[in-house]
Amino acid sequence: MKLFIDTANLEEIKEANSLGILDGVTTNPTLLAREKREPVVQLREICSIVKGPVSAEVTAQDYQGMVKEAEELAKISENIVIKVPTTLEGLKTTKILSQRGIRTNLTLCFSPLQALLVAKAGATFVSPFVGRLDDISTEGMDLVSDVKLIYDNYKIKTQIIVASIRHPIHVLEAARIGADIVTCPFKVIIHLLKHPLTDIGIERFLSDWKKLKDTLGR
Ligand code: E4P
Repeated sequence: MKLFIDTANLEEIKEANSLGILDGVTTNPTLLAREKREPVVQLREICSIVKGPVSAEVTAQDYQGMVKEAEELAKISENIVIKVPTTLEGLKTTKILSQRGIRTNLTLCFSPLQALLVAKAGATFVSPFVGRLDDISTEGMDLVSDVKLIYDNYKIKTQIIVASIRHPIHVLEAARIGADIVTCPFKVIIHLLKHPLTDIGIERFLSDWKKLKDTLGR
């Protein structure tokens, strides 16, 4: 399973990249707004850090506007994947971009049937948002299982990016289901690695080592 980071923050991206576990980045207008910099400049810098796909979202509402924005964003770097909302206009955009060889990530996917349609329109990636479904008392991971089942039934090539991840259990379940990718906030990536027994184990080894050194008088 590939691991993307869901942020537009350069420090977080650099740190995650230095761990050797990072396969790509997803951004959205909210995440870019948090960085308070010109989005194109920020995206260009992100693409210079990470080799894999970097999702950049269009904000136009109509397909003509989306396609125009997508073409500009695609010029930033060949890493750029165009994030398109799962709407009628988004589907038209996806069809056009896919014919032009521009990769897309269909975002804000909340139902398996939306996922089926975006795949038919030629989406490279689809992003089911699990956390936002959990927030409204609906099992977010059930959506991922359904999308995976449908894509497997028809040998659909669109890759599933599990998005709106809130905690490590989402990542564990995504891996059990066999999702292609998860995109996590930085703090969730750090939590994936943390285990209290690892910390206690290190402490114990270091204290026993110190005792040995003290006994040997060094
Ligand atoms: C995915 O690509 C989105 O940027 C993201 O996962 C949204 O997550 P949120 O629901 O925490 O805002």
